[in-house]
Formats: sequence, structure tokens, C-alpha cells
Amino acid sequence: MKTEVNHYMYLTVFGLLISFIFSYMFELVYLFLSQPENTLGLNMISLLLFIGGFFVYIILLILGKTFFSIESFHLEMVSGLVGVVELRDNYTSGHSQHVADLVEAIYDNLPEKWKSSIVKSDLIQAALLHDIGKILVPREILNKRTPLDEDEYDQIKKHVEYGSRILESFEVFDKILPWIKYHHERIDGNGYYRLKWDEIPIESKIIAVADTYSAVTTDRIYKERATHKEAIEILRGISGSQLDGELVEIFVKVEKEKLEKLSIKSGFRTELEKEYMILAARNYLEY
Ligand SMILES: [Fe+2]
Repeated sequence: MKTEVNHYMYLTVFGLLISFIFSYMFELVYLFLSQPENTLGLNMISLLLFIGGFFVYIILLILGKTFFSIESFHLEMVSGLVGVVELRDNYTSGHSQHVADLVEAIYDNLPEKWKSSIVKSDLIQAALLHDIGKILVPREILNKRTPLDEDEYDQIKKHVEYGSRILESFEVFDKILPWIKYHHERIDGNGYYRLKWDEIPIESKIIAVADTYSAVTTDRIYKERATHKEAIEILRGISGSQLDGELVEIFVKVEKEKLEKLSIKSGFRTELEKEYMILAARNYLEY
């Protein structure tokens, strides 16, 4: 609360300063253009400009704050929706949030040329929703403990199409639909839709790197979960075939400590969730 008060205090002082500079600059221009006997009128105009300038600043601040709140609220809504969906399909809420956190870490490390073309909040939103289509995959397939047969695996694969179909009813998600639809594409063209390299949206490629890291650093039934070092080796092993090599190297540069913190933040709430994540990772890696 104290930080928030300080924040507003600084913003108010900043606004006053801007207004003062604005009115002072006007005063200089006015003095240059008019006669000195207009002093009273000049002061009045200057004062009005000062008040007007500050008023405009406050309006802009409120608009900015409102926009920020709506954006945060929107992400909270999406996060809540994903949590409900994941409870139903036995896939942990930790996974989608973990992928979203990892995606954010990758975004922060991107070179400026990419950052400028990617909207961070849209990317995080897509990461949160990337597996939402699993709500339409039968529970018995999602929860199956034995390896999936071809038909069952085909149904799992459909979650990318289901996801984009669910979200296409909402105009607000139009932009992120292709990113969700193509998050299982591979650079070599052997993904679900056989897209290659530049045909795959950069946002989908970023989600794929984060998704893979999240899956391999989770406990698996027949193997211990990979350590950070092992996970990096796995990512590099499929770099250039499954994952975008440049993005993998950008991910590698994210500090290990930061990733560990993200993993704790997105940790499993219950043993049941942990068990579900094991199943999800097993399916991910076996196919
Ligand atoms: Fe997926």
C-alpha cells in the first residue's frame, strides 16, 4: 500500500511539473509575441493553462489506469477459466501457468526486433489457453494410464483444433487463435498441420519451447524429471528439427534461478495434480 501511495505521489508531482513547464513555455512564447502591459492577462492565461494541463494529465492517468486494470482483469479471467478446465480434464493448472511464466521469461530475453512485433499480454494469454481444447477430448483418453493407441492419440492431437474452435466464438481471441492452433508444429514440418519454419507463427514457436521445458522438468512415470541441465540438453537435442534453434538459445540464456522461482510459483497444489502432470508429460514425450 505504501509503495502504491508513493507511486501516486510521484505521478502527481510529475504531472504538476509537466503542467508547470507547459504553462511556463507558453508564457515565454506569449511574452515574445505580445506587449509587456498584458501582464495580468498573461498570468491568468498561464494559470488556466497550468490547471488545464494538469487536468488533462489526470484524465490520461485515469484512462491508462483503467486500461491497465481491464487488461489485468482479462488475464485473471483467462487464468481462472483455464484452472476450471484443467480440473475437469486432469491436466494441472500448474502446467498452463508454468508455460505462461516461461513464455514471459522468453519474451523478456527476445531481441528488440522481435519484441516490437509481439504483444506481450496477447502472448501470455495464448500460453495460458494453449491446451484449452483438451476440454473436448474424452476424459478416459486424457486420464489413461497405459500408452495410447493411434485412434486415441489422434483424438489428443485434435485439442489444437478444438482450442481454436472454442475461442473463435469470442472476437477478443481472434489474434491468438493461430498461435494456439499451431503450438504443436515442428520446424521440420512434421507437426500436426505440417507447417514449416516461417509458416509457423513466432508466438507458437515460443509456446512450444516453454511447453517442452515444462513437460520434461516434470516427474514422469518411468523416469525422474529432468534437471535444468538435462532439460537444456533435451531442448538442444530437438533444436532445429522440432523447436526453433534461435528461440532455444534465447531460452537457454534465461537464468536458472529465475526458472526455478517460476517453477515454485507454478507448483502443484496437490499430489493429485502432480500425478496428472506425470501422465501429461508421459503422453507428450512418448508421441
Ligand atoms: Fe498442447
